[in-house]
Amino acid sequence: MADVPTTTPQTSVRASLAQGYTLPADWYTDPAMFTRERQRIFRKSWQYVGLTEQIAKPGDFFTCTIGEVPVVILRDKDGDVRAFANVCRHRGSQLVLAECGSRATLQCHYHAWTYNLDGTLRAAPSSKDEPDFDASAFSLFPVRVETWGPFIFANPDRAARPLSAYLGELPALVDATGLDLSTIKRRVRRTYEIGANWKAVVDNYLECYHCAVAHPSFCDLIDVNHYTVTEYEYFSTQNGAVKQTAREGKAANLYDASQGVQEGFYAYLWPNFTINIYPGPGNVSLNLFVPLAVDRTLAVYDYCFADAVSEQEERDFVRFIDQVQEEDIVLCESVQRGMQSGYFERGKLMLSREKALRHFQNLICDAME
Ligand code: FES
Ligand SMILES: [Fe+2]
Repeated sequence: MADVPTTTPQTSVRASLAQGYTLPADWYTDPAMFTRERQRIFRKSWQYVGLTEQIAKPGDFFTCTIGEVPVVILRDKDGDVRAFANVCRHRGSQLVLAECGSRATLQCHYHAWTYNLDGTLRAAPSSKDEPDFDASAFSLFPVRVETWGPFIFANPDRAARPLSAYLGELPALVDATGLDLSTIKRRVRRTYEIGANWKAVVDNYLECYHCAVAHPSFCDLIDVNHYTVTEYEYFSTQNGAVKQTAREGKAANLYDASQGVQEGFYAYLWPNFTINIYPGPGNVSLNLFVPLAVDRTLAVYDYCFADAVSEQEERDFVRFIDQVQEEDIVLCESVQRGMQSGYFERGKLMLSREKALRHFQNLICDAME
């Protein structure tokens, strides 16, 4: 902290959150905090990894990284979704390097140890020359995996409560929007590297206090003056109705929101996933905020649409959201510079507009204690 007078309470982080202050700046800038978060949050929570359509047939797989754990997600011979630590039991190499593909077995690129789709070791070259070698002792380590509709979640913590304990009422709330998740397919994936701590990116997602200043086109679409934020145990939601002018097609630079869902629904799920249903034709966009370093985050956007959505509608929609995202990146990166300046210790929330940040930051506290 620079030599600036502090105006924030000299109390515990938990107590200052209760008073409407934010987490301290060093929680966003200290590499040691980032390492602890990887252990206490990203090794222990359910994280969105992809869609069931990515592994439609037995043998289909994709790879991902959860915190620092490389994971391979696949569909086995019986059609079940499975996840394994993507780490070879021979000498610890990452087993599968490809991002996705389809294989009858998983063969390590280093010395060709080969595993069945159920994780058991099928073959290890020259192992017959080792009298004590017991292949059954070298299966891949399973990782917990569960699905909600088309969404696949994985969790490296074998003792974790089931995914449903974290989702709570969220699936019912998504159903209530009128969007049928079984009809949507991913058409576009966009990734953005953001020069900010992952929590600054989540914080930014969790309030629309900034919308009137920073997102003019979003405010042409959604009535941000009647915007509701609701907290649940492990998630929070934001709802905003489409503006009459947008419904009538009178606002420039928008996509056609006259049909379909008439209320925007934006849900954040602990720790780093959001599901967004915009007004208009069948759409859902999924955001995953992957922490890369204390000051770097990868935002992965999966844009999914119902079949009835035309290519033109899809392009207009993605262009619209992309613009909002570009605007948000500027905001998040400016926060990171401020956090690192030494001239910021804790912020003060406007709880009538920013209470979902406090909900999130309390979950961070819960996990870090
Ligand atoms: S490390 Fe995988 S086969 Fe050697
Ligand atoms: Fe924003």
